Amino acid sequence: MSDATIPAEPTGTEPTGAEPTGAEPTATQPGAAEPGPPGTAPADEAARLDAADPLRAKRDAFTLDDTVYLDGNSLGALPRAVPPRLADVVAREWGQLRIRSWEESGWWTAPERIGDRVARLVGAGPGQVVVGDSTSVNVFKAVVAAVRIAQERGAHRDQILVDEATFPTDGYIAESAARMTGCTVRPVAAGDVPTAVGARTAVALVNHVDYRTGRLHDLPGTTAAVHAAGALVVWDLCHSAGALPVGLDAHGVDLAVGCTYKYLNGGPGAPAYLYVAQAHQPRFDSPLPGWNSHADPFGMASAYTPADGAVRGRVGTPDILSTLALEAALEVWDGVPIEDVRAKSLALTDFFLRCVETYVPAGRVRSITPVAHAERGSQVALRCAAAGEAGEVMAELVRRGVVGDFRRPDVLRFGFTPLYTGFAEVERAARVLADVLKEG
Ligand SMILES: Cc1ncc(COP(=O)(O)O)c(C=O)c1O
Repeated sequence: MSDATIPAEPTGTEPTGAEPTGAEPTATQPGAAEPGPPGTAPADEAARLDAADPLRAKRDAFTLDDTVYLDGNSLGALPRAVPPRLADVVAREWGQLRIRSWEESGWWTAPERIGDRVARLVGAGPGQVVVGDSTSVNVFKAVVAAVRIAQERGAHRDQILVDEATFPTDGYIAESAARMTGCTVRPVAAGDVPTAVGARTAVALVNHVDYRTGRLHDLPGTTAAVHAAGALVVWDLCHSAGALPVGLDAHGVDLAVGCTYKYLNGGPGAPAYLYVAQAHQPRFDSPLPGWNSHADPFGMASAYTPADGAVRGRVGTPDILSTLALEAALEVWDGVPIEDVRAKSLALTDFFLRCVETYVPAGRVRSITPVAHAERGSQVALRCAAAGEAGEVMAELVRRGVVGDFRRPDVLRFGFTPLYTGFAEVERAARVLADVLKEG
């Protein structure tokens, strides 16, 4: 498998001996992007890759136009199944059935029913994932509950290791969780968690894919190292779920959280999810024991008795409109093997890096996304060489119909959603980027 040759900057500690997160695609798998013969024009190569793409037809399941949309790592595109489903939920289930819909339309059980659909995409068996609340709220539930489990084991554990490059909300929440549980937060590079974890660690909170650089962290190896030290691990899957195999059950992950508005296309503000491994469920002591997680919610008892299973992760009344929009959005995954998605994701990012190298004048951008497939998620982050230009470069790209995003101070982020991004679009994005930089 060829790697993109555009130079990558080191971004923090390099993972040592990182195992691939699940099976890595080979050149013979669908979607793998071997470069064409030397001299092949990128546009010709794009046509060849699009023709061979087994996921190509999936694009029709989304509402898209001729904008090159490379921001699905922030907000996924609208699946066509969502508007008619939402119209029915509003007009019939709410408008006509009203309160009967909690039961007759399956509203009450939607969080765990839809949780099972998400579960398949992150390698979890049924009964372990529940959707609801935001990722931030689920980070809180997961970290506090994980510390409580670790501390119940008897040993004195008073540290929470937090990925030092984490999306900020995880760090803020971990600080508060630490204050509540008598712990302190210790920031650690995600790649260093296996060596930093020790007898005082209660929990490690790690991002599977770094939101800024697109670096994929070693979930199997890190999880095993944290377990060897007697601690628990909470994974934030926001930037990996729906883009690559996660294998929560296979790798013995304790708890995980993620959002559904990126690669799962659930829509703005779509509910997040919480995974609690079956083995931990009886001891999962939620810091937000709302009535929806009660064993008998309509018993209206004054004493709290937690429900069994994933339901224990619920809090209050679910946001039914967003939750059912997510359910409809997840239909596009029917029959889609996540391995095919991963193969295409790597092919897209490989191809984008090759096109950038071909088109963009040398020295204008530098990739901060790892070259090695085992360390790459589904986005490419390019650092602009000229100080202060990245914001305007992205604004101009958007004006010319190529939508990525800008992370201060100098990073251009491009997300590749295998279900709807095509290779010709990737070629166009790199070509327009080169034009903008040449003219700037
Ligand atoms: C890695 C990561 N964690 C957490 C969040 C925050 O999610 P929420 O706004 O659902 O709390 C995000 C949002 O983009 C994210 O990228």
